[in-house]
Amino acid sequence: MLDRRKRIIARNFVFFGVAWAVLGCGTNRPSEFKIPREAAGQRNPFPANAESIAKGKELYVGGGCVICHGKDGSGKGVLAKDITMNLHDWRDPSVQGAFSDGELFYIMQNGKGTNRGKMPAYRDQETPEEIWDTVSYIRSLAAISK
Ligand code: HEC
Repeated sequence: MLDRRKRIIARNFVFFGVAWAVLGCGTNRPSEFKIPREAAGQRNPFPANAESIAKGKELYVGGGCVICHGKDGSGKGVLAKDITMNLHDWRDPSVQGAFSDGELFYIMQNGKGTNRGKMPAYRDQETPEEIWDTVSYIRSLAAISK
């Protein structure tokens, strides 16, 4: 009698364990990328002046962004040609308009994507000020002011 009850309890444990693992993983899929609202609403604390844009350009060219995003920001870097990445063309103001400054900053800092076309995280390589300079540079490619 006691044995049977133990077996039932054990079976339930296994059942709920599997259900938890499946459902738990399901809700944590990396494809559900979401930028926290405070981060998306963050404004560039540094003026997007010529000095900041020049520093951003230096980081963009020297930081290896070009191989994917292209020298001109068109999204046609050499690596992006080999691997389908579907990168945005930053020269198009309507493309840039779809992102807030805070979103560009957040994606650069934390990275995005899981497959081969992954945007690396730059939080360990660049200071927040450097990342904002790069945001100013990217904005200058479409001459959008926000
Ligand atoms: C290995 C390729 C690769 C490199 C190197 C890379 N990126 Fe990206 N980047 C991506 C991909 C892919 C995305 C789109 C990710 C997504 O939407 O899933 C992206 C997205 C972005 C975005 C968000 C806006 C958008 O158009 O989706 C910004 C901003 C950005 N990258 C900036 C940079 C900067 C600045 C550098 C260099 C410091 C850099 N990236 C280096 C691949 C790369």
